[in-house]
Amino acid sequence: MDRGLSTLSEPLIDISAYILVSIVIIDTTLSISLLTDFQKYVVFIDEGFQNYVAVIVKLVYGKQDSCYYKVIQRIMVFKFPRRKNRLVKQLREKRFVELTKDYFESDVVKQMDKYIHHGTTTTLQHCENVAWISYLVNKKLKLNANEKELIGVAMLHDLFLYDWHDGEPCRKTHGFDHPEIACNNAIKHFGIPEKQQQAILSHMWPLNITKIPKSRVALIICMVDKYCALMETIRLNKRFGLRY
Ligand SMILES: [Fe+2]
Ligand SMILES: [Fe+2]
Repeated sequence: MDRGLSTLSEPLIDISAYILVSIVIIDTTLSISLLTDFQKYVVFIDEGFQNYVAVIVKLVYGKQDSCYYKVIQRIMVFKFPRRKNRLVKQLREKRFVELTKDYFESDVVKQMDKYIHHGTTTTLQHCENVAWISYLVNKKLKLNANEKELIGVAMLHDLFLYDWHDGEPCRKTHGFDHPEIACNNAIKHFGIPEKQQQAILSHMWPLNITKIPKSRVALIICMVDKYCALMETIRLNKRFGLRY
């Protein structure tokens, strides 16, 4: 090439150089432009596929959430992260409604809605908040507490049927007394087993210093109850994930 070029005049070499540089610039520009389009195509195909798979998974497994919950969750985490949250939320919600259904149908539990507990939140709403946050915490942190027991304790832990702000002299010790009152009511109306009784009795720990939470369920309820009570009192319920 060097020998060939040396025979050319200088202006001709300059012109050839300009032409070659122009070709390189055009080539680079076209390559980048095609790559960008290609990237768009990949995203387009990927989204189409994800939407399609999401619809099929929902159709096939939607009605059998409890048994396929873990499988679906894994599939969704692996295949379509963007769709994951919405579907997982729906399944979580459905499972939660199933677990709490019996309690909401009970007359004694319904009565809790007559009394204000914290802020503007009734005792029933507080119990539902505790149940919901406990349920989420248990799932999210993979604590593996028994869901049925957890929801049972959450829904019944404050099953006392009075307004503790009513000024009655006996309310002065409400903080200490109500776990036992709730536990007795829960035994009377739901016949709850020993483990759940212990969890209800220990939910006010460390106020009731000797009633230490001794199970996973008890510990979750004890912590979540305080969180919900605080959020309800300072009225940040919705903002911090509570149902009411
Ligand atoms: Fe309580
Ligand atoms: Fe509570």
